[in-house]
Amino acid sequence: MATSVQSAPRSRIGQWLDERLGLRGIAYPVPEHANSLPYILGGITLTGFVILFVTGIYLAQFYHPEPADAHQSVVFLITGVPLGDLVRSIHFWTAQIVTVTVLLHMLRVLFTGAYKRPREINWYVGLGLLAVTLGLVFTGSVLKFDQEGLEALQHNKEAAEVIGALGAWFSPEFSRSVPLLTRLFNGHITILPLLFGLLIAGHIFLIKQHGISPKVTPDATARSTAGEGDSHFSVHLLRMIGFGLIVFSLALVLSLIFPAPLGQPGVAGAEVTKPGWMFIWLFPTEAALGARALAIVPVVLGGLLALVPMIDRSPYLSPARRKGLLIVAGLILIVIVASGIYAALQPVSAHLE
Ligand code: HEM
Repeated sequence: MATSVQSAPRSRIGQWLDERLGLRGIAYPVPEHANSLPYILGGITLTGFVILFVTGIYLAQFYHPEPADAHQSVVFLITGVPLGDLVRSIHFWTAQIVTVTVLLHMLRVLFTGAYKRPREINWYVGLGLLAVTLGLVFTGSVLKFDQEGLEALQHNKEAAEVIGALGAWFSPEFSRSVPLLTRLFNGHITILPLLFGLLIAGHIFLIKQHGISPKVTPDATARSTAGEGDSHFSVHLLRMIGFGLIVFSLALVLSLIFPAPLGQPGVAGAEVTKPGWMFIWLFPTEAALGARALAIVPVVLGGLLALVPMIDRSPYLSPARRKGLLIVAGLILIVIVASGIYAALQPVSAHLE
């Protein structure tokens, strides 16, 4: 049988796969700017999540989510499991990197007006992804059940009491047969990853529907770019994988220099540690308002973020045309960062009631 001569000859395996998987379909056009760092931060976050899922599956084989055994099982993971310390550290550091990239991704979307019509719903799906990410970081920090984990759990119980019936799931009384720690572990490895899967599927579907938002110029307006552009999604995907390898290498180097920390087993009632950087900025408000702050501040900030597409309805993308919103957002960000720095410099003060 005669084979047709093509300009770019493909291997037989390539042809076989292409025929069955339609791989050529992923080479659809995308704008060139989609490959630049600011516009690929969401993709970098996604590759980080792949690393988290793979390393997390390994860790779950050795972690025991019983309050009496949890800390000891982490000690065993570090000292007795092949590559256990390294895999745990890569999981820890990738979680830190992913939290940074998801926040930068959100700030990029905010700064470039990428939440505007027709992308408003994807902004809300993104807010759901942010909540899931922070939920994963929080539940993950409790699991090791050292002093920091125990204190996080105590704060968790206090905040749950404040929100009453809505916080019932977080109270130890919710299920008398399964300890709260075990249920937080379930949240960490089943409920939140499942929610992540559903949300990211919706997020990617909507990005494909609308295309990436147009490049920001003084007069650019938000509109669909689906099917437009000088680059191809296959190029974009390769970039994403390249950035994913950089994230992995960074997590690996950090893990070798600074292995993930593990404190002494927790002593209930004591308050001698500080939370991770993603939560420490809540400390000053908690000191002023009590445990209420842990429930109120995230709800207020989430509510403000939810208002963004409703407030800023003009079609223009240029930051110069959206100064009011960006100044308010910048001021809130400065207050959050300043609170975090202040809390990091303060001695640990007991404010659990
Ligand atoms: C786990 C968290 C998240 C992941 C994995 C993720 C992933 C992605 C990816 C892959 C893109 C394509 C552009 C890019 O790569 O940057 C994107 C675009 C987008 N994301 Fe996210 N995202 C996450 C969280 C968020 C958050 C927190 C928001 C905002 C609240 C958000 C809102 C959007 C919007 C509006 C777009 C369209 C941007 C445009 O067209 O320019 N995402 N996201």
